[in-house]
Amino acid sequence: MVEKMMRTLVIIGSQWGDEGKGKITDYYADQVKYVVRFQGGNNAGHTIVVDGERFAFHLIPSGVVRGKTVIIGNGVVVDPAVLLEEIRQLDERGIKVNLKISSKAHVIMPYHVAQDGLQDAMKGKYAAGTTKRGIGPAYSDKAARDGIRMMDLIQPKILKEKLEFIIPIKQKMLEIYQSDQVLDSGGIIKQYTAYGKALEPYIDDIEYLLNDAITRGSKVLFEGAQGALLGIDHGLYPHGTSSNCCGQAASTGTGVPMNKIDYVMGVVKAYTSRVGSGPVPTELTGKTGEKIREQGNEYGTTTGRPRRVGWLDLVALKYTTMINGFDGFALTLLDVLEGIDPIKICTAYKHGNDIIDRWIADTNFLKDCDPVYKDMKGWSPRSPQEWNEIANKGFDSLPGPMKEYINVIEEFIGVPIVLVSIGPNRNDTVIRKDIFNL
Ligand code: GDP
Ligand code: IMO
Ligand code: MG
Repeated sequence: MVEKMMRTLVIIGSQWGDEGKGKITDYYADQVKYVVRFQGGNNAGHTIVVDGERFAFHLIPSGVVRGKTVIIGNGVVVDPAVLLEEIRQLDERGIKVNLKISSKAHVIMPYHVAQDGLQDAMKGKYAAGTTKRGIGPAYSDKAARDGIRMMDLIQPKILKEKLEFIIPIKQKMLEIYQSDQVLDSGGIIKQYTAYGKALEPYIDDIEYLLNDAITRGSKVLFEGAQGALLGIDHGLYPHGTSSNCCGQAASTGTGVPMNKIDYVMGVVKAYTSRVGSGPVPTELTGKTGEKIREQGNEYGTTTGRPRRVGWLDLVALKYTTMINGFDGFALTLLDVLEGIDPIKICTAYKHGNDIIDRWIADTNFLKDCDPVYKDMKGWSPRSPQEWNEIANKGFDSLPGPMKEYINVIEEFIGVPIVLVSIGPNRNDTVIRKDIFNL
């Protein structure tokens, strides 16, 4: 058998975000040279814990803690103030930031942030409950070809020319939204010129850098943000985000072609969580939901909002597996379900008299779907140290009912679960299959 040489790994949230992508990225970052964000912006909040020390990233790829070269691709929307603050904080913690930013990445401007909050507030039942970070308006301007790119930030004359045209239009837009906020054109131009100066050393043609690196045999890890059910094309429109959150976006968001993508890994948490609005068929609103929220500390990394929680939805997972073509899964947060018995898994929906095995990205349809559940036996609580000891011993040491839970998911989805996570720390991790030596 010919050994497959793996050069690139894409990590994707397979649900509604917050599946533990940061932890999994940090785990595999050890084995690569570059770690790359390719979509989304600082709506993301990726947490990693190393020897008890916690890091939360919004824009900088999680590989930075491992000292890897980190890259922000053209598909990302960048708030320069947030990025510079993240660099400053890492510097303060003694972590060197080896960063490259695509010259084609779009910039989140103050009017985007203002517009985001105003727009979502007016939408009533169609609101997404956004993170109010200006993500949607920045991607709208990109599509309308009114965006400011990183390359504009470092060309003061062009930046001024563009903003003198755009800002008066944005001012009128804010007035339509009945805001009395006044955009200080001169101040914005000055501020963003200064950001350009500060970020200039990082700006590069990352498509050349990455393609050359892969051709030379370097390994690259692509870190997805959000989750497949939030994606603009295949997610629950209009309650999701404004970028594509699927594996294919790793290609468009960096300029690395599809035939250089070797492995797409879905990250799935052992239950469901959701920040923001829109129907979640398996949502738990009672005591069990509260217990999962508390045990999983399910509060947003970015906004601090309590996350809605529910049982694992295999209908949705099978759908995102189809869209992304996941080669394997990392199953996370299994320890959080300790002490809950039975644990339910949704295997189909009931819609009127019909049993449905498809996830249909239509709000009105989904809100009338009732989950059909399979009951699974739970496992008893352990201390974080005990979970860590189990992780060190390996897969066979996991509680029997947990192994059964893993096997049922794997069988239903038809894709191997190659990694199991039973705690937030880097080493609370069990490898079932070493994907870098396929
Ligand atoms: P991301 O957005 O997908 O990177 O996920 P977040 O960082 O927003 O949320 C995941 C949360 O779960 C973080 O607080 C992680 O530290 C934590 N976490 C990750 N994996 C595990 C796990 O297996 N068990 C527990 N208890 N926590 C985990
Ligand atoms: P990570 O990368 C969970 C949700 C918001 C809202 C919708 C649109 O940490 O998994 P936006 O600000 O993007 O316009 O909001 O998407 N959302 C997330 N939910 N995790 C995220 O990122 C999210 N990023 C956006 O709550 O419903
Ligand atoms: Mg998150």
